[in-house]
Amino acid sequence: MRLPGRCTLKYVAASLGRRGVFASRLNVLRRNSWNAAEFMPEAAGFEGVSGRDELQEYSVSNSESFWAAVAHQRLSWIRPFRTVQDCDLSRGRIKWFEGGKLNVSGESSVFDCVFCRELLEMTCRVGNLLRRHGVTKGDCVTIYMPTCPLAVVSMLACARIGAVHNVVFAGFSAEALAERIRDAESSTVITVNQGLRGGKVTELKKTVDTAVQSCPTVRQVFVATRTDNPFGFLQLVNRKSNFVLQEMLKEDVVCEPAAMDSEDILFLLYTSGSTGKPKGLVHTHAGYLLYAALTHKYVFSYQDGDVFGCVADIGWITGHSYTVYGPLVNGGTTVLFESTPVYPDPGRYWDMVERLKINQFYGAPTAIRLLIKYGDQWVKKYDRSTLKTLGSVGEPINTEAWEWYHRVVGDGRCPVVDTWWQTETGGICIAPKPSDPDAAIVPGMAMRPFFGIKPVLVDTEGKVLTSNNTSGALCMAQPWPGMARSIHNNHQRFLETYCQPYPGFFFTGDGAFRSEDGYYQITGRLDDVINVSGHRIGTAEIEDCSLVAESAVIGYSHNIKGQGVYAFVVLKKGVEVQEADLVKQLSNIVSEKIAKYASPDFIQIVKRLPKTRSGKIMRRVLRKVVECDLEGLGDLSTLDDPAAVQEILEGHEKLLSKR
Ligand code: WTA
Repeated sequence: MRLPGRCTLKYVAASLGRRGVFASRLNVLRRNSWNAAEFMPEAAGFEGVSGRDELQEYSVSNSESFWAAVAHQRLSWIRPFRTVQDCDLSRGRIKWFEGGKLNVSGESSVFDCVFCRELLEMTCRVGNLLRRHGVTKGDCVTIYMPTCPLAVVSMLACARIGAVHNVVFAGFSAEALAERIRDAESSTVITVNQGLRGGKVTELKKTVDTAVQSCPTVRQVFVATRTDNPFGFLQLVNRKSNFVLQEMLKEDVVCEPAAMDSEDILFLLYTSGSTGKPKGLVHTHAGYLLYAALTHKYVFSYQDGDVFGCVADIGWITGHSYTVYGPLVNGGTTVLFESTPVYPDPGRYWDMVERLKINQFYGAPTAIRLLIKYGDQWVKKYDRSTLKTLGSVGEPINTEAWEWYHRVVGDGRCPVVDTWWQTETGGICIAPKPSDPDAAIVPGMAMRPFFGIKPVLVDTEGKVLTSNNTSGALCMAQPWPGMARSIHNNHQRFLETYCQPYPGFFFTGDGAFRSEDGYYQITGRLDDVINVSGHRIGTAEIEDCSLVAESAVIGYSHNIKGQGVYAFVVLKKGVEVQEADLVKQLSNIVSEKIAKYASPDFIQIVKRLPKTRSGKIMRRVLRKVVECDLEGLGDLSTLDDPAAVQEILEGHEKLLSKR
């Protein structure tokens, strides 16, 4: 049964001067959503399931029947699927709901009743524009835009015509953008003339112009006029003539949705790994959408009519799953937040909560830690009585930040859910609830697996640790519909990174601790990936940038950013530079090659790096130096030249004393 309803897209613009909110209330039809009186209507037919624990158990041990029931009821199918899953983790084969056809933005789809008319019309116009300019099913479109309505429309337009979208965070440099465009073999780029963030104008179109010079596959660039009109119009810029050819408003508002196979690619999203080259993770239509929608509904206790405020940028997976797809598939109201937490003042989030009557607020610990410093008055100034659930994502949330979020922002009455997941997992995998109002929450712990998720901890020998009160490599013992299918153009890397380290399991790259009570706490990355302000960055990416002879980049604990970047560099022979100049120079290089957030906070010039006799840099030693943990230096006997450590320690002390 379908009921008429309303769907709202709320846009909190980052406009200069104007402390603007652009909210559009649009009439739509909405899918008859979950019966709020029952916990999970799809579970009605599951035998022996009465409580949450049994449902969790059922979802894991009867995975096929669980996912089949949920997929039938939650997604609208153009053609129903034949098989639920065909997965073999050890061989990196992951397929869900084969034989099924659907379109996320289509008339007989998950979006048919949730789509705001205006959003649908804009999506159709852009879909038609792309189609008319030769973008066909399977083509990749790179979207380099801030979080704004047209960015969401562009994503949905791609989905509608069967193109693959590749959103690149608008803070990335021209070089980083070019690398992602080239790897994705994008024919088309969509951008805005300028971006606005935290009171600053960013020249996004210019960055694209520079980037596409080294991208032979790009045929065309569409430019929206973001700074003239927040909803903008898309114009087509022909690469050669740079001439504006067409405006999207000339396009028809009807655009036939492509019937997509469950396993057709919905998007690529690049993320950092432990080598210098970012990886384009592949997500497909049906499984991803189902998982985003289900986790959005149950992790946050999202109810019909709630306003969901996820403040993540659409350039990251959190923006994809919980600003765009999860809320929209659920017929929800979603907030697009384009600004920063401190612009124009540190009350920005809570002012928005009051004005838009946000019910679920989902943000990052780094922002919470920053806001704590400005004092409680910025929060208390605003009415936050609509808030029901607070979420945290992207990095571990320390107890102090958790307590403040709970006590001050949530007035001690809103549960704070620390959600663990990754670009690879598509949606939240470990979080304190799903939807159990009585579940106790331990501060700073992601705690419990989501439905259908079976985490395991594995020791260095690959043995599964069965007892509690133990730590190990966090792996998933079973496939789930939301997981990434591959790395674009490099399935071998997918196998080596995720499937082969612990055969039969999906390796997350994170370590975790399982408490006495069986709850999970994430302890951090086990590879050379660091997490700066919730942004993943491979140390190798930063090392690749420098013009120095050799470098080693280490993440260190930073009280606001979570982790900061500390670089040890060895200068090329004969180079004589002032330390201050070098620090500036190297920081600029990293900003230009990657993004500002990747710039080192500390750069220490050293004569040599500590290495093993076989020439491998001993990062463990450098980490201990940076942590000032001399006792933890451990066994240095395998070092080629133990004297190097003494020099490094002295240099480190000198550097700290200057700060
Ligand atoms: C880290 C972001 C601790 C983790 C959704 C993971 C977390 C990486 C948490 C993924 C959390 C994410 N507690 N660590 N609640 N959430 N992480 O791909 O190291 O940008 O592997 O996805 O962030 O980052 P990504």
